[in-house]
Amino acid sequence: MAAIRSLAEPARDRAAGPNSNSNSNSNSSPSLHTNAISIQDCSLTFGSVRVLNQVSLDIQSGEFMSILGPSGCGKSTLLRLILGLLSPDRGGAIVHHVPREEIGIVFQKPVLMPWQTAIQNIELPLSIGPQRAKQSKAERREKAEWSLELVGLTDFRNHFPQQLSGGMQQRIAIARALAANPSILLMDEPFGALDEFTREKLNIELLRLWANPDTGLNTVVMVTHSIQESVLMSDRIVMMSPRPAKVQDIVHVPLSHPREAEMQEHPEFLSTVREIRKQVKAL
Ligand SMILES: Nc1ncnc2c1ncn2[C@@H]1O[C@H](COP(=O)(O)OP(=O)(O)OP(=O)(O)O)[C@@H](O)[C@H]1O
Ligand SMILES: [Mg+2]
Repeated sequence: MAAIRSLAEPARDRAAGPNSNSNSNSNSSPSLHTNAISIQDCSLTFGSVRVLNQVSLDIQSGEFMSILGPSGCGKSTLLRLILGLLSPDRGGAIVHHVPREEIGIVFQKPVLMPWQTAIQNIELPLSIGPQRAKQSKAERREKAEWSLELVGLTDFRNHFPQQLSGGMQQRIAIARALAANPSILLMDEPFGALDEFTREKLNIELLRLWANPDTGLNTVVMVTHSIQESVLMSDRIVMMSPRPAKVQDIVHVPLSHPREAEMQEHPEFLSTVREIRKQVKAL
């Protein structure tokens, strides 16, 4: 296995970003980029409740995309649709341009098994279902150790979840997703339950993981309620309307990579936050 780089090392150069050639807020502008996933005219109805309304969105390979929208508008539903856990109503389609097994997910709550240690929790998904046949027990353990090191928690490998802080538990959940080597990571408010200090630290850590070529992680789609978090982390921010949700707007973030927490004081950061806040008020 290739030697891994520490999270503290400089990020891979994403300075150009996937959308650096475009100043347009339109998702349909001519693009030089390849799509990882295309959501095509997707509507979704639960019983008599229409949740998604003709959502069309191209998720570009290599981008960090955030999804913002009012509570209950259908953001988690959209992630489940992308993951293939739900199907769109007739007429809609999700086109995966990468194999489905390359898509990982991190939920808002870490959902760790309390009777298993950190390393066992990371290893668990590799040991069940079709994943089990792919690697030997020793390879699975090696992979789990590798992803534990990526999130900087090797010293806590034998700790049980209740012996870890909320931020550490969420890092274990991220390590568990990374252990399966996803090229696309879907995240549903992964830092929503954390205090601001921990949240900001994990925001930057996640960007380092995304930039680290050893992880194989290429594209991230993150649902968040935090405008600041979305601007700090993303190349593009998808604004969803209230239910039945459609794509209201797509905002390009005019900040280069690698991102640092201090960028939150840049005029471009502040003006983008202001612009989004105005749009949220108008929803
Ligand atoms: N399995 C389901 N059966 C019926 N209705 C559902 C189901 N899942 C979600 N819904 C409904 O779909 C709507 C959107 O839910 P969803 O969880 O996607 O919203 P959300 O945007 O993620 O909200 P939040 O920001 O609060 O997490 C809600 O009205 C919810 O009640
Ligand atoms: Mg949700």
